[in-house]
Amino acid sequence: MIKLTNVSKEYAKGGFALRDVSLHVKKGEFVFLTGHSGSGKSTTMRLSHMAERPTSGEVRVTGYTSDRITQRALWKIRRRVGFVFQDFRLLPGRTALENVSFVLEVTGTPRKDIVPRAQRLLTRVGLTPKAGSLVHELSGGEQQRVAIARALANSPYVLLADEPTGNLDDRATRGVMDLFWDINANGMAVLMATHDLELVRRYPKARVLELDNGRLVYDSAAA
Ligand SMILES: Nc1ncnc2c1ncn2[C@@H]1O[C@H](COP(=O)(O)OP(=O)(O)O)[C@@H](O)[C@H]1O
Ligand SMILES: [Mg+2]
Repeated sequence: MIKLTNVSKEYAKGGFALRDVSLHVKKGEFVFLTGHSGSGKSTTMRLSHMAERPTSGEVRVTGYTSDRITQRALWKIRRRVGFVFQDFRLLPGRTALENVSFVLEVTGTPRKDIVPRAQRLLTRVGLTPKAGSLVHELSGGEQQRVAIARALANSPYVLLADEPTGNLDDRATRGVMDLFWDINANGMAVLMATHDLELVRRYPKARVLELDNGRLVYDSAAA
C-alpha cells in the first residue's frame, strides 16, 4: 500500500524532518504513527500521498514510485488515497452534501450518480439527517465525519489521517475512531498520525510506529 525505503526529507529552512525512515503499511492494516510534536509525522503523511517528494530514498504508494512520477499518476494517487486533516478543510458556506458532491464532480462521476452517492457516503458516516446543513452549523465531530465521507468518495485503497481527533472532544473522538475502526474492518488500510498516546492505548490491536526527531524508533510489528 505505502512503502518508504530509506527516506530522508530535508527542508531548505527546517533542516532534516525525516532521516532514513523505512516503513511499510500493508493492505488492511490499522497503523498509528506516533511521536512528539515536530517528530516528522505530518511530513511522513505528506510523503505518503506524494504531496511532497523525498530528498533521498524512495516512496511507493499504491503501485507508484516517487522517483518517476507523472502528473497523471498524481491524479490516480489522489483517488487511491483518502486524506483527512486535523482542521477538516471543508468548503465553507456549503452544505455537508455539497462538500461530498464536489469531489465526486471534479473526479468525473456521472452527473446523475453524484447526489445519490454523496447521500450514501453521508449515511455511511452517520450523517443522513445533516446532509442539508451548512458545515459551520455542524459540530466539530460532525464536520470531521463530513471530511471522512469526502475522503471515502472515490473508494480509496488506504485512508491517511493526520491528527484527525486533534480538534475534537472525547465523545467526538470516540465517534471518529469507531468510524475509522469500522472502515478498517471492511478492509481499508488506515494510517493515522497522532501524538495522543492515551488514545493509542485504547486500540491494542492496532500496529504502532513511533517517530523521534525524524527517525523511526519503534514498530510494534517488529517488537
Ligand atoms: N514545510 C516545511 N518547511 C520547513 N520545515 C518544515 C516544514 N514542514 C515541517 N518542517 C519541520 O520538520 C520537522 C517535522 O515536522 P512535522 O512533520 O510537521 O512534525 P509533526 O507532524 O510530528 O509535528 C519540524 O522540525 C518542522 O519544523
Ligand atoms: Mg503534524
